[in-house]
Amino acid sequence: MTVLRSALDVASPEYAAHRAEMLTKLADLGTEHAKALAGGGEKYVARHRARGKLLARERVELLLDPDTPFLELSPLAAWGSDYPVGASMVTGIGVVEGVECVITANDPTVRGGASNPWTLKKALRANQIAYENRLPLISLVESGGADLPSQKEIFIPGGALFRDLTRLSAAQIPTVAVVFGNSTAGGAYVPGMSDHTVMIRERSKVFLGGPPLVKMATGEESDDESLGGAEMHARHSGLADHFAVDETDAIHQARRIVARLNHRKAHGDPGPADPPKYDEEELLGIVPGDLKFPFDPREVVARIVDGSDFDEFKPLYGPSLVTGWARLHGYPVGVLANAQGVLFSAESQKAAQFIQLANQRDIPLVFLHNTTGYMVGKEYEQGGIIKHGAMMINAVANSTVPHLSVLMGASYGAGHYGMCGRAYDPRFLFAWPSAKSAVMGPQQLAGVLSIVARASAAAKGQPYIDKAADGDAALRAMVEAQIESESLPAFLSGRLYDDGVIDPRDTRTVLGLCLSAVHTAPVEGVRGGFGVFRM
Ligand code: COA
Repeated sequence: MTVLRSALDVASPEYAAHRAEMLTKLADLGTEHAKALAGGGEKYVARHRARGKLLARERVELLLDPDTPFLELSPLAAWGSDYPVGASMVTGIGVVEGVECVITANDPTVRGGASNPWTLKKALRANQIAYENRLPLISLVESGGADLPSQKEIFIPGGALFRDLTRLSAAQIPTVAVVFGNSTAGGAYVPGMSDHTVMIRERSKVFLGGPPLVKMATGEESDDESLGGAEMHARHSGLADHFAVDETDAIHQARRIVARLNHRKAHGDPGPADPPKYDEEELLGIVPGDLKFPFDPREVVARIVDGSDFDEFKPLYGPSLVTGWARLHGYPVGVLANAQGVLFSAESQKAAQFIQLANQRDIPLVFLHNTTGYMVGKEYEQGGIIKHGAMMINAVANSTVPHLSVLMGASYGAGHYGMCGRAYDPRFLFAWPSAKSAVMGPQQLAGVLSIVARASAAAKGQPYIDKAADGDAALRAMVEAQIESESLPAFLSGRLYDDGVIDPRDTRTVLGLCLSAVHTAPVEGVRGGFGVFRM
């Protein structure tokens, strides 16, 4: 065993300050998460209940095996937009009859469960997770279809929802639709494209056009039941495979469907694992409130990997990036974690080598971000920082073992890419409340803008703001504040640039759930399929 030694002084004022700041950020995020939980608010929740219906989260809970975790995804979707936080949909990974599944559930208390642009992004992300990890997809449907005022944002890209369902099916990844209420127009293709469907007596409404539209189109008089009720679809159209008498019965039938799927994981459960030697609670006190101060990521690794046991790779070479092997909930992982923030040539080459090794051994990679990006300056440009950064990006982009990314602190510039940021398709990406991500730090960005504005004014022979210092300071402060707010985790999570903002104390659990999910699909490294490494 190579057990990490911790130098974290939990009695120090720094630790107390870092912890206090993290707790404040967690409390703020808790307030935002509570908005998603509240759905459409009291009025609509009460009306929904008065109709004898279960809430979206209650449906999910009943579907899951008792006392098993649900890894909720993108709970802050739509944060900072004109739409309610949570985007009128619940998505996540949970265990049904012993099978890990992706579950999506419309929240009918939010604008009739209608899909806005963020709902669409959230649903498509859930589909992608099902596809990449070969997890069955269960859709709990009750939706007013497209959010009509925003139809221009969703109509064209929204077709991907139904495309995904049939592609999942073609890839032998089972899909199940349980229709609790409205599922009309385009929404009718959710049951239409799913492998298995359950509909509920006098509740499910599945038709291409409702009675008013039919009247308009053909003059025919009709009603909901004869056009698209569960009884009709079970007896006549054949769209309903299972006829349920109420919501509980429908959920029970969905569970029976999953029990009979014969869906097998590519890799078995690795068995019991040792907990870390250090308390996960201490993860609260590691990241400084001001990200300009570095921290040792080994302190994080020591609190998330099995037995705090970590075999470091090339510890003396490129020390600003820590790389090494460990196990996490029994699964082997390679860890890449930023130490001093900046990535130099040596760090980039070390990362490229390490990623290749993980691919040779079929070992998933965990990226722990705290980077300000690749080093700039004459010495580094002459030393080949571009081509070395390119090697790292080449390696990460073409690596095929599963990648899990956690943004602990800064994740700026191309460093975000090299460390497997969102565009590099990590299987999962979570942020801590302390994370910040942008093209560069807010201060640097404001400074760069100011220098560019000065140069531009000079080129035109114009004076750059008469009041010189004052005007410039105001501009800088404004830009800084804007970039700061756009770098924060709630903002980025709202735009689906991560899969959620997590409590640092949950990191091991979240990564463990993700590792279990990714091992449903075969874990296979790329064999020689990298781009040309520029030497
Ligand atoms: N787009 C935008 N807003 C919608 C919406 C949609 N597709 N569907 C419902 N809403 C809004 C309603 O206007 C209402 O807003 P308000 O409370 O501020 O007035 C709120 O969501 C709740 O709708 P309500 O009709 O009161 O809820 P309900 O539970 O009784 O009925 C539906 C839900 C979905 C059956 C019903 O709203 C409906 O038929 N919507 C239109 C469905 C449709 O044709 N969609 C187009 C498909 S492409």
